[in-house]
Amino acid sequence: MNFDISAAAAPYTWAANFSEPMDELVKRYTASVSFDQRMWRQDIRASLAHARMLARQGIVQAGDLADIQRGMAQIVGEIESGAFAWSLDFEDVHLNIEKRLTALVGDAGKRLHTGRSRNDQVATDVRLYLRDAIDDIQVLLGQFQSALLDLAEREAGTPMPGFTHLQVAQPITFGHHVLAWYEMTRRDAERLVDVRKRTNRLPLGAAALAGTTYPIDRQFVAAELGFDGVCENSLDAVSDRDFAVEFCAAAALLMTHVSRMSEELVLWMNPRFGFVKIPDRFCTGSSIMPQKKNPDVPELARGKTGRVYGHLTALLTLMKGQPLAYNKDNQEDKEPLFDTVDTVSDTLRVFSAMIPGIAARPEAMRDALRQGFATATDLADYLVRKGLPFRDAHQAVGLAVRRADELGVDLPQLPLAELQSFSPLIGDDVFPALTVEGSLAARNHIGGTAPEQVRAAIARARAHV
Ligand code: ARG
Repeated sequence: MNFDISAAAAPYTWAANFSEPMDELVKRYTASVSFDQRMWRQDIRASLAHARMLARQGIVQAGDLADIQRGMAQIVGEIESGAFAWSLDFEDVHLNIEKRLTALVGDAGKRLHTGRSRNDQVATDVRLYLRDAIDDIQVLLGQFQSALLDLAEREAGTPMPGFTHLQVAQPITFGHHVLAWYEMTRRDAERLVDVRKRTNRLPLGAAALAGTTYPIDRQFVAAELGFDGVCENSLDAVSDRDFAVEFCAAAALLMTHVSRMSEELVLWMNPRFGFVKIPDRFCTGSSIMPQKKNPDVPELARGKTGRVYGHLTALLTLMKGQPLAYNKDNQEDKEPLFDTVDTVSDTLRVFSAMIPGIAARPEAMRDALRQGFATATDLADYLVRKGLPFRDAHQAVGLAVRRADELGVDLPQLPLAELQSFSPLIGDDVFPALTVEGSLAARNHIGGTAPEQVRAAIARARAHV
């Protein structure tokens, strides 16, 4: 029988063994082009590397490669200008681009898919996409860290209460507090470096699941695309998305850190604290209460953290029941991954812009310090220096605090004679130790809150950023 292949396949996306076109509902249900088209650059980059390899290995002709390169260059122009007609008929980004290529250059376009499958193709695209996204996020994270370090430097000597159990504990500087935030982000950056290592391996060559019969050169493709190496097992290469899970886990932790920071900013914006002001351009008002100025940015960041946790849970759940190798389930990896990238990127952008505008209100911080006997530990430490065992010092200071509370004063306001009634070891050299400045300066070791140490920590950090 004479069989015209192109005519037979024309109405259907799939092979000639299909006897009817795809149901419209199924077409919409199974398509991913609406969201995976964002990987078009990665798809074309990977296809060109694959084509170069095919030509180098003599699997396609040099002329085919030239045609493919010419066609792809035109497609890049069409997509960039918005002229490219994405079609649901071709399911995903891969088929859309391949169909257009074939329309433009004919047989060479049909040869591009030699020795590969969409299974290794999509795994490659997602890895390339995520690698690019991680690199972009690292830049944003660096900007966020710089903003934090600038704020820490400005406020390196600004005393504020440090809290445990949200009760006033000991004096710290605002700069020291901001450096705690900075440290969290440093580990976030390290985690992303680590995720990138495992993301940066090449699946191409695995083909559908078992490898391919052509004399391919996977190392060449890996080097062309900047991968550190190839995925060692073809089944694993097309099926696992653990790198995406890892990224979402790192992103979830990053957002946890931003969320904790946000919670503090929201609290400190409340007049009961009044520790900071956030510029009006980062706040919103109320449609009914004319006096309101709401810290929407930190609130929303706190909210969006939940959304990223959701994506992590979605990806973990996506993977847990899948037998090897590729299953269509994996198409569901993209939206959670993309939204995580977007959410983290936008959050870092808006925080980097907002942080330089955060104004400390040192008077409010000092008022809070005066209300919480923040230098009680310093009095105990003073007694220890005079020879009293720490536990006895702890007891004596507890009684002094009770007395100060009765009198409605802070510890340094107690007269010397009053203080001496709790321990005869107390002399008039006690007062410098009970001031906020004395308390801060005394914690003068690496990691401590002494302004000198805060400035040294900032200098060390700057050497990193
Ligand atoms: N759109 C698919 C995905 O995102 C591409 C791979 C499809 N492979 C297949 N055998 N149906 O996973």
